[in-house]
Amino acid sequence: MTGFDVQRTYDLASKTYNELRDLSSSLVTVTDTITRNLDISSGDRILDVGCGTGSVSLSAARLATGAGSVVGVDISQSMVEFARINARNAGVDNIEFIVCDMDEFNFPAESFDSLACALALFFSRDMPEVISSFWRLLRPGGRLALATLGRNILHPVSGAFLDLAQLYTPDLDVSAPWNKVEDLSHLRRLVEEAGTYERISLDHQDAVMNLESAKDGWEYLMGSGFRNYIMQLDKDTVERIRRDINEWMERNAIRHLTLGVNYVTAVKST
Ligand SMILES: C[S@@+](CC[C@H](N)C(=O)[O-])C[C@H]1O[C@@H](n2cnc3c(N)ncnc32)[C@H](O)[C@@H]1O
Repeated sequence: MTGFDVQRTYDLASKTYNELRDLSSSLVTVTDTITRNLDISSGDRILDVGCGTGSVSLSAARLATGAGSVVGVDISQSMVEFARINARNAGVDNIEFIVCDMDEFNFPAESFDSLACALALFFSRDMPEVISSFWRLLRPGGRLALATLGRNILHPVSGAFLDLAQLYTPDLDVSAPWNKVEDLSHLRRLVEEAGTYERISLDHQDAVMNLESAKDGWEYLMGSGFRNYIMQLDKDTVERIRRDINEWMERNAIRHLTLGVNYVTAVKST
């Protein structure tokens, strides 16, 4: 059991992700922070990489008034379908969503005023190369706004889940792409080494998400990259872990999860 099938993971997680995305205060904070960091002006053309169900794309498109527009790209067909529905329901029509792998971009150079990548960069096969392509796609003076995960990821339910999953399935592949860039200093170095910039700024937030019930802990796992581990388990094992986790959350009166997010914002040299 090896490899992290990101496309299938998010195809399966998409429905739950879409239900939780705009209800979770910390994920809403990520959207708001990234949108602010993009510093959008009327008429801007924005690329949202790993757009998921479209939260950042929608919030950027509302600010890119006039001739402005957003392109949202994601490797998961199912996430893109939810994004299209969300845009239609919101009455926002200056967005185009495309199914596309960030490791294989072929947009023209300097074709965007700003570029967002929220909680997706670590899934690329070659992060230095992908960040170089981000710099290429930006016009001189364009802004790059990245958000990646820190050390606390859906803490504490994620740790409890992984311990149980490995107990019941000892050969589980527990590779976690998001850990590759959990250090803010590492992310900063990747951005600095991939292009020429004028300004760079860093931020970190450990946001707390309140849960309505103990069972929500399991739902957050199902809507996240942890879905990858579920794909490796048989049905009975999943059910057993779900019951154990729900009982553990209830017994310990756990009513919130923590999500640590690192931000790097940089401006391309003119
Ligand atoms: C945690 S979600 C974040 C979604 C969105 N940016 C948000 O803030 O809600 C990660 C997204 O990255 C997408 N993704 C993963 N690898 C990708 C790749 N190589 N190219 C494009 N999208 C990718 C996944 O399909 C998923 O929708």
